[in-house]
Amino acid sequence: MTQTINTSPAQPAGSPASEIVRVALGTRSYDIVIGADLLAQAGHYIAPLLPRPKTVIITDTNVGETHLKTLQTALDGAGIEHASLLVPAGEASKNFAQLEKICDWLLEQKIEREDCIIALGGGVIGDLTGFAAAILRRGTRFLQIPTTLLAQVDSSIGGKTAVNASLGKNLIGAFHQPDFVLADMDVLKTLPPRELRAGYAEIVKYGALGDRAFFDWLETNGQKVMALDTKSVAHAVAQSCRAKAAIVARDEREAGERALLNLGHTFGHAFEKLTGYGEALLHGEAVAYGMVLAFAFSAHRGECDPQDATRLQAHLAACGLPASMAQVGNGAFDAQALIEAMGQDKKVKAGKMRFILARGLGDTYIAEDVTPEALLPFLIAQGARA
Ligand code: GLY
Repeated sequence: MTQTINTSPAQPAGSPASEIVRVALGTRSYDIVIGADLLAQAGHYIAPLLPRPKTVIITDTNVGETHLKTLQTALDGAGIEHASLLVPAGEASKNFAQLEKICDWLLEQKIEREDCIIALGGGVIGDLTGFAAAILRRGTRFLQIPTTLLAQVDSSIGGKTAVNASLGKNLIGAFHQPDFVLADMDVLKTLPPRELRAGYAEIVKYGALGDRAFFDWLETNGQKVMALDTKSVAHAVAQSCRAKAAIVARDEREAGERALLNLGHTFGHAFEKLTGYGEALLHGEAVAYGMVLAFAFSAHRGECDPQDATRLQAHLAACGLPASMAQVGNGAFDAQALIEAMGQDKKVKAGKMRFILARGLGDTYIAEDVTPEALLPFLIAQGARA
């Protein structure tokens, strides 16, 4: 007998309104359910995805304290047997040693290919669990319950999974799509404000890269989003997920358009690298300042209305994100070192740097004609040392 696994869970009766965004990838399509108080109802959403009432949860030591119990209770309520593995919180866990531990534990738990592993956490847990699922028994199913704003709008969607290599971040990984994503607005309430702001930068990115009307909406409603007004944050997350889902559906493996999702990343990664990928500059903060530079550089090239560049900078600054070089780390950067770091970017193709540049808010493109000679005076004018 063939077992049918429902991949489109219905909303539980009497539950608060939630939105469903579909990532359309043929037989690998899946839903992102976005709303309030969803973690407590996770059993309802997850049960139809399972071929047998058994699952495992991979989370980290921080999320383990705040949200694991709620998920375990929800699974108990739906009669789903479960076991949990807690990984030390932090980027340092995104390595081969942890990956091996996770795979060994999953095998000990006798997880089979058709079982569905739960990733409960932020980007580190999503990437590690997703990569473990990609290679366990040559490919096992998994679902994401992202607990950070950044993971809800970016890393939990689209199937990029990875660990870090000694030569750089996310260099070893696989494309492996989840079977489901559950984005609960209430779990965001335990996030430190700085992390929430860093996640908000990725929301602004969707407006800046392809949706001017959404950027306009964020200018008016951004403070409500960051205050976690449920309706506003759910709208911002859903709109971001819709934007990413549409791009991933058209270009899953980043042959072209998906690279636009890296707006702000080539500049941003250089600052992350020079500040040591740590507390001095969070990834979302680097993306915020990277977007400021991408728009300012586009204006400097005469391609983008300077007023659009100024609007973006002003909105990010109003949201407490770094919008000038003085606000990044200790503010002291060598222009040549920044250019050198940009040359190591993953988007480099045949030795050429690739930047996401803008014709205006909501209108971006991939530029392959940016030279170190053009960047040097621009970066110096922005405050870098000659
Ligand atoms: N975070 C960019 C992407 O998923 O393509």
